[in-house]
Amino acid sequence: MSSAVRKLAVELGARSYPIRIGAGLLSDPTNWRDTLSGKQVLVVSDEHVAPLYLDRVVTGLHDAALSTLILPAGEAHKTLDSTTRIFAALAELNASRDATIIALGGGVIGDLAGFAAACWMRGIAFVQMPTTLLAMVDSSVGGKTGVDLPQGKNLVGAFHQPRAVIADTDTLSSLPDRELRAGFAEVIKYGALGDAQFFAWLETHADALLARDPHALADCIAHCCAQKAGIVARDETERGERALLNFGHSFGHALETVCGYGSLLHGEAVAIGMCRAARLSARLGMAADADSQRLRDLLTRFGLPTAIPAGTDADALLAAMRLDKKNASGRLRLILWRGVGRAEIAEGVDEGTIRELLRESG
Ligand SMILES: NC(=O)c1ccc[n+]([C@@H]2O[C@H](COP(=O)([O-])OP(=O)(O)OC[C@H]3O[C@@H](n4cnc5c(N)ncnc54)[C@H](O)[C@@H]3O)[C@@H](O)[C@H]2O)c1
Repeated sequence: MSSAVRKLAVELGARSYPIRIGAGLLSDPTNWRDTLSGKQVLVVSDEHVAPLYLDRVVTGLHDAALSTLILPAGEAHKTLDSTTRIFAALAELNASRDATIIALGGGVIGDLAGFAAACWMRGIAFVQMPTTLLAMVDSSVGGKTGVDLPQGKNLVGAFHQPRAVIADTDTLSSLPDRELRAGFAEVIKYGALGDAQFFAWLETHADALLARDPHALADCIAHCCAQKAGIVARDETERGERALLNFGHSFGHALETVCGYGSLLHGEAVAIGMCRAARLSARLGMAADADSQRLRDLLTRFGLPTAIPAGTDADALLAAMRLDKKNASGRLRLILWRGVGRAEIAEGVDEGTIRELLRESG
């Protein structure tokens, strides 16, 4: 294994797993081969990622019973139909309980392949090989898997931890700018919800990060993974603290559903959602306006949207928020904050106040 690999772990007893972050990891199978157990492997990727990186993985699997599946790219394909295609590929491979799925791609492929792995024969192994910033800092870690329904984001899914996360930072060089920026929304989220020092670090390192400075990016990814690994280890199935990772997501998921999957990228929707959560917190007297402004400034600096797209139906947004997984007993539960680095769970916020907030422009 190359020496520049940053190594972290998600500590979950017998289900603990490594996170490896570094340049060139995919090309050298000694970086990841040890994380596969049985002989059968299905590599799931998408039409943008496969032409760029699939060969690197396949070359390292020459002695496996191997199959590959290339799915259409994008959120609009994070569906039960795509999951069925993965099941068909597993059946074609005669995949048994010791088979492994490798998810090579962004969060869409990771969520889909992980969900298929959770279901196939009641659960087989899978390895995350994230190729977007968003997937490296967030979706590949923590074992949330699932698909969207027309009625709402991620409504069908399972907790199923991967066997390993292998983040080859070289793959970020081909990531389109808009996708990179969307990944920074989840990065900023970590600072906003519980790490004011990291938030300040992002304020000072924004230019280097946007210029894709490899050291700044690797530091950033490792920091986010460490924060998420800690939270997941303490609260794997979101009975408490893990819910804070959804800062901005109740609004964000509703926006994705109502605007149409893929029209706003997930990270963009989260950026807008975090601004609304901060504004609501200020309105409820929980936080200062200055904190909302600081968040908005940082998101803007990273080229992210902060306003709800004009013409979005506020009532439809509120209806989508009522289907959010954090809600309990039919009541909205939101993640709000007391300022940068201090998010908390809020129950029973008046729906009229939220509707009014959703109607506001800017
Ligand atoms: N499971 C979780 O805990 C969790 C957390 C956060 C987000 N998510 C989910 O993640 C998804 C968003 O993930 P995403 O932003 O990675 O989207 P994505 O998977 O759609 O990838 C974004 C786009 O970039 C392309 N791409 C990926 N890697 C590339 C590369 N290296 N070079 C060039 N193009 C590349 C993809 O083909 C796609 O078109 C959403 O569905 C969201 O709900 C899940």
